[in-house]
Amino acid sequence: MKKAALVSIAAYAPQKILTNAELEKMVETSDEWIVKRTGIHSRHIAEDESLTSMALKAGKLALERSGLEKNEIDCLICATVTPDFFCMPSTAAQVASELGLGSIMAFDISAACSGFVYLLEVAKSLVESGAKKNVLIIGADKFSSIVDYSDRSICVLFGDGAGAGVVSVASSDNHIIATHCASDGSKGELLMTPKDGRNVGFVKMSGNEVFKIAVNTLTNDVVELLEKSGIASSQIDLFIPHQANLRIIKAVQERLGLSEAKCVVTVGEYGNTSAASIPMAMNTAYEDGRLKAGSLILLDAFGGGFTWGSALLRFGR
Ligand code: ACO
Repeated sequence: MKKAALVSIAAYAPQKILTNAELEKMVETSDEWIVKRTGIHSRHIAEDESLTSMALKAGKLALERSGLEKNEIDCLICATVTPDFFCMPSTAAQVASELGLGSIMAFDISAACSGFVYLLEVAKSLVESGAKKNVLIIGADKFSSIVDYSDRSICVLFGDGAGAGVVSVASSDNHIIATHCASDGSKGELLMTPKDGRNVGFVKMSGNEVFKIAVNTLTNDVVELLEKSGIASSQIDLFIPHQANLRIIKAVQERLGLSEAKCVVTVGEYGNTSAASIPMAMNTAYEDGRLKAGSLILLDAFGGGFTWGSALLRFGR
């Protein structure tokens, strides 16, 4: 049977940086509270940039890094919960067109912060079934468009960005070993964007409850995936979790018995960028040389829906 591999990774963060000091002037908060409770120092904000333009920049770089020609990409999928357009057109169709990929299959998925892991599972299935050869996947979110900047419990947490990769038919032992994606809609109201008539409201979260569920779900999920794959946590080269809160990341890392050096943390600089968070963290590790072809990596995500998922893979061609 064919195997699928994640052959490239890339990301884009908008230029404008919103620091904790700036937030102190906007709401009743402090740098000390934000850093202690979340580990976040700053977040990037797309002022005049659209979600599509961020997705386009990350997607273009992922395509270049894959070494493939435009006409070799036969599918583009974008994960986002903050698209520029309501319902249609999809971000994926817009990006495919702007990248000059021709009339390929292009569609969006909605899985909040678990978006990139969901994308990996969908792209893996498409490639392994033989339906597609090279799938460009993009996780992008512009939470600044749904964040209430007078709500201190939310505005300190989120940032904007995009991350992308290409999933292709594997040509070596480097491939996606296993993915697991799941959901529980019964807890949807704990993290949601309420809709009032025709208007979509600001994101609301019961942070404390989400925190506890996130830690337990994330830990159980990766432990199960490692067991099923017959891989010990000590074999992992890099653990790249969803970047929502440093305390959640540390709790899962410690329960897995992994050293700090093996855990990629970017939440301090970017905050929570939802579907972009995992690929942005992967890109940081790629650009600083920690993530190499053949690295065995474990991804772990949790987000609104609730949705969650994990993936185990050897990166690169
Ligand atoms: N500055 C100062 N004080 C604040 C702030 C702030 N920015 N925000 C809240 N507080 C106050 C609260 O009002 C509360 O005050 P009180 O005790 O007088 O009532 C106190 O701080 C404690 O608030 P908690 O909400 O209990 O703080 P907690 O330690 O739980 O941290 C946080 C909050 C950071 C949101 C945490 O709960 C968290 O990270 N939750 C999970 C987030 C997550 O993983 N989300 C899933 C992915 S996101 C997605 O899918 C889109």
